[in-house]
Amino acid sequence: MSLQSKIELLEQKRRQAELGGGKERIERQHKAGRKTARERINALLDPGTFVEIDEFVTHRATDFGMDKNKILGDGLVSGYGKIDGRLMFVFAQDFTVFGGSLSRANADKIVKIMDMAMKMGAPVIGLNDSGGARIQEGVESLAGYADIFYRNVRSSGVIPQISAILGPCAGGAVYSPAITDFIMMVKETSYMFVTGPDVIKTVTNEEVTMEELGGAMTHNQKSGVAHFTAEDDDQAMIMIRELMSFLPSNNMEDPPVKVCTDDLCREEPKLDEVIPPDPNKPYDMMDIIMPVIDNNHFLEVQPHYAKNIIVGFARIAGKPVGIVANQPAVLAGVLDINSSTKAARFVRFCDAFNIPLITFEDVPGFLPGTTQEFGGIIKHGAKLLYAFAEATVPKITIITRKAYGGAYDVMSSKHIGADYNFAYPTAEIAVMGPEGAVNIIYRNKINTDDERQKAVEEYRENFASPYKAAELGYIDEIIFPHNTRKKLVQALEMTQNKSASNPPKKHGNIPL
Ligand code: HXC
Repeated sequence: MSLQSKIELLEQKRRQAELGGGKERIERQHKAGRKTARERINALLDPGTFVEIDEFVTHRATDFGMDKNKILGDGLVSGYGKIDGRLMFVFAQDFTVFGGSLSRANADKIVKIMDMAMKMGAPVIGLNDSGGARIQEGVESLAGYADIFYRNVRSSGVIPQISAILGPCAGGAVYSPAITDFIMMVKETSYMFVTGPDVIKTVTNEEVTMEELGGAMTHNQKSGVAHFTAEDDDQAMIMIRELMSFLPSNNMEDPPVKVCTDDLCREEPKLDEVIPPDPNKPYDMMDIIMPVIDNNHFLEVQPHYAKNIIVGFARIAGKPVGIVANQPAVLAGVLDINSSTKAARFVRFCDAFNIPLITFEDVPGFLPGTTQEFGGIIKHGAKLLYAFAEATVPKITIITRKAYGGAYDVMSSKHIGADYNFAYPTAEIAVMGPEGAVNIIYRNKINTDDERQKAVEEYRENFASPYKAAELGYIDEIIFPHNTRKKLVQALEMTQNKSASNPPKKHGNIPL
């Protein structure tokens, strides 16, 4: 073979690999509103930075005539590239080849880049579009999944792992994403389920559509499995790029700093008027968060799930921070099962990746009721308490209004290790709200409404304020709301070299 023909052979093989399952299947993919694996990678990474690995891998199955049906790459495109100039490892399942199903051979490709990512200390982004285990391969495919799951767990907390769900992901195809840090789904074209509608119909006789069972809004709103929703594949890739801009490449690095163009001492007079005079009136916590962060730029995580708590990423003085905030506009900002688990997972992510935590607190307590108690609010609420207490990153808390009962302790109080605790003059830090307190203390001693009202006012005056907590040193500073940004900048700067660690242990035992 001449040198020329050898070069042509490589070119031809490359062209063949790049066609995946062929033109017809690519067209089908486009008609379904989805991009191909390579198109997605190109949209995700900085232009021209993608380097493909294992382009010529094929499966080794022989049953069901598979030996005569081999496609270069075997339904998976993998390699490395850059986002904003930073190294990322990426794999994308190619639905045009055997439905993107997981074979032993393409699992090995994923395993290879996961191992490289751990060695190099770089994130892994998985673009999932797969019918699950390759049915023709049986246990070899299951073994491939388990090899990936094992690495997902070992990488957890060491390198960020991000999953995009971009097609129908069934069976094993959902469990690796479930272990990763964040899941992105696309509206109307992506699905996640362990067993699909047909199996459900056979086993439980329930009838349910793919969309209802495992569509983007189901997992972003109902189950809490997913964290972000995109309108289409392109938007999903843009959102992942944005998410990565807040995250370090690994747990030994600090998150990336951007030049801050926003005034660090910016006063916000409007903040003095956000908290309504009536303590039972709701307000939107976003009206406090947005003006104090850099350039009003907030990447909310799980915005559709457990809306009574807000979590997400922002920057202050150019440095990424994780924000956890009760939302008095939804269920009065109460802590319940879903909001506790949502926030606990976010707090643990930030702690693992050196992202300081800022907590905005206005919480009337834990949600009462049999649904919550039978559902295990005790252990789920304890997750948030555990997560805040174990976090060693800088922790700063601002009590805007209510900090009642156990929820006061849980929401990053001084007592569980917060580094700096602010309160607004409108803060009410007490065992419970004045009405509840009066009902108990004066149970048989109050006869008229006037007496009750007087007792409530008295209690509010004496106990439902920040001053008792400030006298005891549980609150470091009572601040004017208009100064919040400046105060946060100072506190973050003061805590930037914080050095703290938990006692040596194999691992803790968070109440799962
Ligand atoms: C091999 C598969 C496949 C699979 C799809 N294909 N899934 N090949 N193994 N798991 C192939 C199809 O045969 C078809 O090939 C092509 O991919 C496209 O599939 P369609 O069915 O035509 O596409 P669509 O109508 O869009 O439906 C997509 C789908 C469906 C919902 C994903 O294909 C499906 O239900 N697949 C099976 C899902 C499943 O049960 N997987 C196993 C889960 S068990 P042709 O050549 O005909 O075009 C599992 C265990 C792991 O994963 C557990 C670990 C914990």
